[in-house]
Amino acid sequence: MANRTTIIAGNWKLNKTAAETRRTILELRNKLAGLSTGAEVVVFPPFVSLETAVDAARETILQVGAQNVFWEKSGAYTGEVSTTMLEALGLEFVLLGHSERRALFGETDATVARRLEAVLGGRLTPVVCVGEGLEEREAGRTGEVLARQVEGALKDVAPDHIGRVVLAYEPVWAIGTGKSASPTIANDAHTLIRSSIAAMFGRSAADETSVLYGGSVKPENTASLMRESEVDGVLVGGASLDAASFAEIVRAAG
Ligand code: PGA
Repeated sequence: MANRTTIIAGNWKLNKTAAETRRTILELRNKLAGLSTGAEVVVFPPFVSLETAVDAARETILQVGAQNVFWEKSGAYTGEVSTTMLEALGLEFVLLGHSERRALFGETDATVARRLEAVLGGRLTPVVCVGEGLEEREAGRTGEVLARQVEGALKDVAPDHIGRVVLAYEPVWAIGTGKSASPTIANDAHTLIRSSIAAMFGRSAADETSVLYGGSVKPENTASLMRESEVDGVLVGGASLDAASFAEIVRAAG
């Protein structure tokens, strides 16, 4: 297997004020003290808690990311936040194209591609989320949906930038449902994602791209998912909100 970065990420979605963010990060710091891990551990708090998060995460193994970003740097775009602003806060990562953004906020493969291009023009590491819905899976369309989403998101990425992109496979039917994909289903989907990357950027670029699994990851299923050869990390929603459970996931990921 190629030498891919392992990433354990917590997507906090619309949860935690700045004060709660600080408290959770300090708890995580205590619970992870002394842990030696080769993994990158990242939390994604809401925008208004990011500055506090960066401050609280200083001198810990934790890194901080944002849950979304707009593609323009500045201007008349009420309610939006730019890559420059996130970089100025000292962030490392940004999520793009989460299925909740696609389903609830009109995000499409085309808008994900624009955001990705903007992110790659700067310093942040993008985590691009893809995943099929239940009906698509039951209709045998998983491969086609994943290929469309990966190709749609990555279509404008320059070959020398693909090494900075992280993918996350998040089947919509597994998110927040308590029904995680089995390790085999996750591994097969990651293989499909990697073949789309290979078709666009070549085999070695695909082999070096980290692909995370997300959807009802818990302390109890982390190790079995992480044992799969194509699973390079996890993107955790609900179980990342509690410091004890997220710390257990980080430890279980090895
Ligand atoms: P979940 O969410 O772990 O609560 O299923 C995962 C995600 O949406 O990133």
